[in-house]
Amino acid sequence: MLDKSINVLLVDDDEDDFLLTSACFNDLDKWNFSLTWCPTYREAMHNIKTCKHDLYIFDFLLGERNGIELLSEALENQCEEPIILLTGKGDEKVAVEALRLGAADYLVKSELEPQILERSIRYALERTNVLKALRQSERRYRRIFEESKDMLFISDLKGQVLDFNLAAVQLTGYDSAELLTLSLVEMLDGQEMKGIWQEIKTGTDLHDREVKITTKEGEKKYCLMSASVEVDFESRYIQGRLHDITSRKQSERERLFSEKLAVTSRLIRMLAHEVRNPLTNVNLSAEQLESELEDEDQKFYTQIIKRNCTRINDLITQLLQSSRPNEMTLLPTSIHQILDEALSVAHDRLQLKKIEVSKQYESEDLTLPLDATSLQIALLNIINNAIEAMEENKGILRVTTRRYEQDIQVLIADNGSGISEENMRKIFEPYFTGKKAGMGIGLATTLSIVESHQGRIDVQSEEGVGTVFTLSFSA
Ligand SMILES: Nc1ncnc2c1ncn2[C@@H]1O[C@H](COP(=O)(O)OP(=O)(O)O)[C@@H](O)[C@H]1O
Ligand SMILES: [Mg+2]
Repeated sequence: MLDKSINVLLVDDDEDDFLLTSACFNDLDKWNFSLTWCPTYREAMHNIKTCKHDLYIFDFLLGERNGIELLSEALENQCEEPIILLTGKGDEKVAVEALRLGAADYLVKSELEPQILERSIRYALERTNVLKALRQSERRYRRIFEESKDMLFISDLKGQVLDFNLAAVQLTGYDSAELLTLSLVEMLDGQEMKGIWQEIKTGTDLHDREVKITTKEGEKKYCLMSASVEVDFESRYIQGRLHDITSRKQSERERLFSEKLAVTSRLIRMLAHEVRNPLTNVNLSAEQLESELEDEDQKFYTQIIKRNCTRINDLITQLLQSSRPNEMTLLPTSIHQILDEALSVAHDRLQLKKIEVSKQYESEDLTLPLDATSLQIALLNIINNAIEAMEENKGILRVTTRRYEQDIQVLIADNGSGISEENMRKIFEPYFTGKKAGMGIGLATTLSIVESHQGRIDVQSEEGVGTVFTLSFSA
């Protein structure tokens, strides 16, 4: 600091006063100053905006304006350099006001001495350097905070959100104003979360714990959460991170479903083949026998054999269809049209149970290469299950279409019984049913039809709350 010349701007409308102050500067022999005089408010503001000075000294009296006004305007213009105000004797109020606004110091003009000036300048410059370093560091970390793809947050111990980044808005669907009124504990799912929050509050750091959060639209998202309690000026707060793993989980589940389907369809085809050959023999023999029988009463038995052969054969055909849909021709078709057709087929059943249907279609028409007949069957299977899962008079069936990342999605949501974790693993298996009179073929068929469209299915469900089936097709 000793070698470098310090550029000082001295704003004073009285030239004699300027000369007196500059004499004081001349006595500071340890410092190397370059002093510029500026007699008017306007010129001073102009100089401040060019940011060429290291230090400003304003006299309080500046003709029609005053040093406090200049100080405020300089700070409004992001002046980061220290400002010292020269006041008259007994101007305590002005001095206090100047410090409150952000002046580095004040000096009583009539008492100005080289020693006092030196102390004030040294202190002001050092303080400014510290503040600048702090601001720079704050800017750097702020940037990391803002640009993180994970939701970062600071909350109080109750979970009230105090600060967050853009990723928080994207993850939760709430806007900034709404987020500030929300409690994280409510956004995070379930009883378990209350326990987790209690743990964090009592000082246990949380590392990548899997949690579920509910977005503004009521969607569940899976996240890995880390959080810890920090202490700041004696008060305690929680800082944390939520890393969205919904799509990872989703593709894991989708892969599992379709792997299962591939294994079962291989098994089904093999079994069907192995059963059909002997079955044909049984049937042929029964016919032969029947033609050789003379007693009509005895034919009763061959007919039973034949009828049951047909039944087994039909069952096999149905089973084969569920695992490998018929030949399909994919033609560009409106997904909205197919949904509407499926809903109109289901119309009577929907009315019978007094189910409210809410359609939330994307405003543009969404067209995909589809086999209309089989996709309609696939959608109907899902809609029928939803109808069966809902209580009469209370059901709401929500059908949504949307563009989501690279996909076109169809969401079919009900507020029915929901599916237990255990059943969730089996619902796509052929012949799995949770119903007394169910066949368990519906979802297996749906999955294989959707896969033939290069689509994917995901299911989110909560017992007692409802189920959402999401079909995704690459657009
Ligand atoms: N929306 C839903 N809500 C609750 N349970 C469902 C829903 N969709 C499917 N399930 C469960 O999945 C099982 C399999 O469905 P599916 O393959 O269509 O066969 P089925 O309807 O003949 O039982 C159902 O029995 C039911 O237990
Ligand atoms: Mg069904």
